[in-house]
Amino acid sequence: MQIFLDTAEVEAIRTYAAWGVIDGVTTNPSLIAKSGRVFEEVIAEICAIVDGPISAEVTALDAPGMIAQAEPLVGIHPNVTIKVPLTPEGLKATETLANRGIAVNVTLCFSATQALLAAKAGAAFISPFIGRLDDRGERGMALIEDIVEIYGNYPQFTTEVLVASVRNAEHVRQAALVGADICTVPPKIMDAMVTHDLTDKGLAAFLADWEAAQGS
Ligand code: G3P
Repeated sequence: MQIFLDTAEVEAIRTYAAWGVIDGVTTNPSLIAKSGRVFEEVIAEICAIVDGPISAEVTALDAPGMIAQAEPLVGIHPNVTIKVPLTPEGLKATETLANRGIAVNVTLCFSATQALLAAKAGAAFISPFIGRLDDRGERGMALIEDIVEIYGNYPQFTTEVLVASVRNAEHVRQAALVGADICTVPPKIMDAMVTHDLTDKGLAAFLADWEAAQGS
């Protein structure tokens, strides 16, 4: 499973990219706004750090507007992927952009039928938001299971399942277990993924034994 970072914080991206495990980055208008920086500059800096798909989201609500916003964004770097919302206009924009050879990440997916339509429109990625489904008492991972199975039924679909709205390391474990292609992970969850108290205790014991042996 590929791991993307779900953030627009350039320094955090630099930190986790240095681990050698990051395959791409997803941003959205909320994350860009939180960074307090100029959208295009942030995307360019991220592209210089991570060599993989970098999602930049359009904010227009109509297909012509989405396509118009997409064109300069893809000019920033060949790895820029255009993120569009899962609406009828988003599907139209997806088909047009995909026909032009532009990778599209269709976002705000909350149902399997939405994912089916995105694949048919030619999306490179579908982003189901599992945390927001969990928040209202549904099981977000059930949606991932459905989409993985549906896409698997039709080998002509090349759309990759990109698990988004990830809230904890358990989401990442389950995404990998059910065979999702990608999980986009907020930086703090990377820390939760790498940390284990037995690793820390074991390392401390190894070092203590080593130091004791040097002194004897
Ligand atoms: O990048 C989109 C998605 O991951 C947002 O997650 O936490 O705002 O539901 P969240």
